[in-house]
Amino acid sequence: MTPGTRTRVLGISSGKGGVGKSSVTVNLAISLTARGHRVGILDADVYGYSIPRMLGLTEAPEVESEQIIPPEAYGVSVVSIGFFVGEDQPVMWRGPMLHKALEQFLVDVAWGEPDYLLVDMPPGTGDVALSMAQFLPRCEFFVVTTPQAAAQRVAQKTAFMARKLKLPLRGVIENMSWFTGDDAKRYELFGSGGGQSLADDLSVPLLGQIPLVPAVRAGGDSGVPVTVSDPEGEAAAAFGAVAERIEAMGPARIYRSELKVN
Ligand SMILES: Nc1ncnc2c1ncn2[C@@H]1O[C@H](COP(=O)(O)OP(=O)(O)OP(=O)(O)O)[C@@H](O)[C@H]1O
Ligand SMILES: [Mg+2]
Repeated sequence: MTPGTRTRVLGISSGKGGVGKSSVTVNLAISLTARGHRVGILDADVYGYSIPRMLGLTEAPEVESEQIIPPEAYGVSVVSIGFFVGEDQPVMWRGPMLHKALEQFLVDVAWGEPDYLLVDMPPGTGDVALSMAQFLPRCEFFVVTTPQAAAQRVAQKTAFMARKLKLPLRGVIENMSWFTGDDAKRYELFGSGGGQSLADDLSVPLLGQIPLVPAVRAGGDSGVPVTVSDPEGEAAAAFGAVAERIEAMGPARIYRSELKVN
């Protein structure tokens, strides 16, 4: 990643864990490749990495002339701390080490120049976001939330953090919005309206609603994401719609005094 890169960096974040950040990251990445883009994923959830498993990647990456070659799954290049530590081993790093590792994942990785680099952020706010803001000042932030009001309040914190770091907040993605039963009825298991009202509060668009589909979970566990195994299904269509919105909105325009050329 060079400073002049045309790569759009999409930071996928959330206020709390388990809302589906990693599932959104993986399936959105595949939807973007299906639309003809070159895509990479940086798994920045160093303490709770899950991208390798979700994409069925187990091999350690090769290193060529001191550059890490990111392994590919379904056309998506991936780098994760999971490639470098043993499975089930806890990562216990202090801030500076974390900062250094993230820098290496950007500088010492032969990313090429993807059209999109999706960054799976750890839940909440903190060190990783600070580092990302420093290394990738053009990182666009997206907040994943579930439909209930409680989740929305937590998600709001992430949004405030993005604003503090002067990173553009581009939209909200609501996950687990409903379950479609065999009777074709939509059941709103986690309530409704949370994504839209968070988007309204933050003055950004709600980019899509991803239904709760058992195949999404199964895909994460098996390493074959639902956008690959069932590209015509309800979930894949929802991810595809979000990809289309993100593509259509184009990169963020950023006005920051410190980036101004005098
Ligand atoms: N739309 C969905 N339909 C069905 N299951 C889903 C959906 N989204 C996520 N899941 C499942 O919910 C669980 C949590 O999702 P995921 O790991 O993507 O969340 P996360 O926000 O990345 O969590 P963490 O904070 O632990 O990193 C996983 O088992 C995943 O397969
Ligand atoms: Mg995750």
